[in-house]
Amino acid sequence: MLTSSEVEELLRGMIIRRLGKRDLSQLFELNVKAFREDAATTGLSVDRLSRAAKLYSLIDTLLPLFDVFHKDFETILVAVSGNKLIGEIHLSPHGKKIWNLYSSAIDVMFRGRGVFRKLMEEALEYISKRHGERVFGSVRTDKIPVVKTFRKLKFEVFETRVLLRFEQDEIPTVDFDAGESIREFRPTDIEQIYQVCKSLSPRRMQVYKMTPADFLDSLLSRMMNRITWSYSKKWVMEMKGKIVGYVHFTYTPPQEAGKIESFCVLPSNKSSRLQSVFLSEVLRFLAAGNIRKVTASLNEEWRETIEIFERFGFKPFASVSEMVKELV
Ligand SMILES: CC(C)(COP(=O)(O)OP(=O)(O)OC[C@H]1O[C@@H](n2cnc3c(N)ncnc32)[C@H](O)[C@@H]1OP(=O)(O)O)[C@@H](O)C(=O)NCCC(=O)NCCS
Repeated sequence: MLTSSEVEELLRGMIIRRLGKRDLSQLFELNVKAFREDAATTGLSVDRLSRAAKLYSLIDTLLPLFDVFHKDFETILVAVSGNKLIGEIHLSPHGKKIWNLYSSAIDVMFRGRGVFRKLMEEALEYISKRHGERVFGSVRTDKIPVVKTFRKLKFEVFETRVLLRFEQDEIPTVDFDAGESIREFRPTDIEQIYQVCKSLSPRRMQVYKMTPADFLDSLLSRMMNRITWSYSKKWVMEMKGKIVGYVHFTYTPPQEAGKIESFCVLPSNKSSRLQSVFLSEVLRFLAAGNIRKVTASLNEEWRETIEIFERFGFKPFASVSEMVKELV
């Protein structure tokens, strides 16, 4: 426990820099404490985050080399004073000069003193220097300091999503009709999947400047999945040989937790039933691997889809503002 004058003293000496190996144990401790509640909700512990952080810190020594070749790499900025780690924020590039900011945490003794805002400002500076043009953040609407700071820094909301958690043991089965099937995604599907998802989320696809190639996993995301014990599945739904749906979900067997990352079914008079078939198959696949803690995030305007998820036993627990800021 620090006295308030010790906190003031440390804040005066605080600097913000890239994560180094020496910060790892404090970073892990900070994350365990700061994300205890979020971890209980998603079923994912921060062990995965700490493994990812280890990779970033290994890469730390190589970053100057990446800079020479104008290659950007995911990193973490830390606020430190002497040997004390005060806070952190993750920065992740997505090609095409687009970056994402996420998982910021401040030591509880130092909260409410503008450290998060300073980390955000440094993060934007870091991204600007690397010629980033657009920055995203997914902000839980109940995290007031985060909402306030994003607004203050002129981020704008482009979508609101509902977070849902699956809380049921029974999974209803829904029968396929003739001509309908589900299969694993193939790289040659990307153009059709792009069109299906674009018809449902035109704004999202536009702000993320998504192209069909974005439906392929990068080498880095495959590497990160390995490191964080995560598996990724992509399935398509076909009706008479035409792709009418796409789902991407991830799961972490040691933690029995899964997440539906994308869920798109082409609107039609059959889409309600098709969505039920798709969801049922995903949940049954996960349950077969003992994965029953499943979360999903859906656009709040997709009332029909949200109702289907709720009928399967998903319950909304938070909402998220998807925010964007142009740097140029
Ligand atoms: C959310 C969190 C990162 C905020 O960090 P922080 O350093 O305390 O935030 P700041 O001091 O920079 O505050 C930012 C703004 O929110 C305001 N604020 C801070 N705490 C507040 C509170 N409890 N209620 C209302 N406003 C608050 C500040 O006054 C400031 O507003 P201002 O710029 O108008 O003065 C920190 O609370 C935390 O680590 N939480 C746990 C992990 C987490 O939830 N992370 C966010 C999800 S990624």
